[in-house]
Amino acid sequence: MTPLQPIVAIDGPAGSGKSTVAKAVAKKLGLFYIDTGAMYRALALKARQENIDPNDTPAVVALAKAIDLTMSYDRHTGALRILLDGRDVSEDIRRPEITEHVSTIAKNEDVRHRMVELQRQFAAGKSAILEGRDIATVVFPDAYKKFFLDAQSEERVKRRYLEMKEKNIAVPENHIRRDIQNRDHIDSTRACAPLKKAPDAVYIDTTHMTIDEVIAAVIAEIQR
Ligand code: DC
Repeated sequence: MTPLQPIVAIDGPAGSGKSTVAKAVAKKLGLFYIDTGAMYRALALKARQENIDPNDTPAVVALAKAIDLTMSYDRHTGALRILLDGRDVSEDIRRPEITEHVSTIAKNEDVRHRMVELQRQFAAGKSAILEGRDIATVVFPDAYKKFFLDAQSEERVKRRYLEMKEKNIAVPENHIRRDIQNRDHIDSTRACAPLKKAPDAVYIDTTHMTIDEVIAAVIAEIQR
């Protein structure tokens, strides 16, 4: 049997609260934080910069293989910066036009293979918390603790809407609803590494929980 790795895996759909929770747990427990969705987003941004159609699979795969992507995480402030070709794109990757195409880009097996390789490199030798869609099932199946965060879809729409509003990005609520439904569908029905709960992951429905309650539940489970 492989020994368990010092990794906490958090998977779940958009708006389930996983980024906020993963960031807070990382800070409280002194873990390195890796946002894997940000990596797929950086690739989607790169494709856009190069005028590559997200459906042009060979071109997207070639981009993924050559991508210059790094993450810098400051354990003290908890700030995560995503660098693409050495430039900070942490904000750009959250734009609605990137969000709209990222799931199409993330469907491809060769793209995923490259991203998983990078995710394992970023986490190598560290105690880390990773969040995404396939962390517990594919990236770190031997993770020490696994969580699947979920919430009813209307609650997830509401959270994403407020989040964008806070960042001063104006997106109508019905666009967010359409985007979340579309991404839920693509992410959970794709052939390669679809979004699903690992059999040994702890399932948390966050619909009626506050963020602090979710953070406390996750920390209690990690320390159990
Ligand atoms: O978590 P997020 O919304 O930033 O993720 C953006 C997209 O990236 C998401 O719609 C699906 C994809 N993704 C993935 O396929 N696998 C991951 N481990 C993380 C994200």
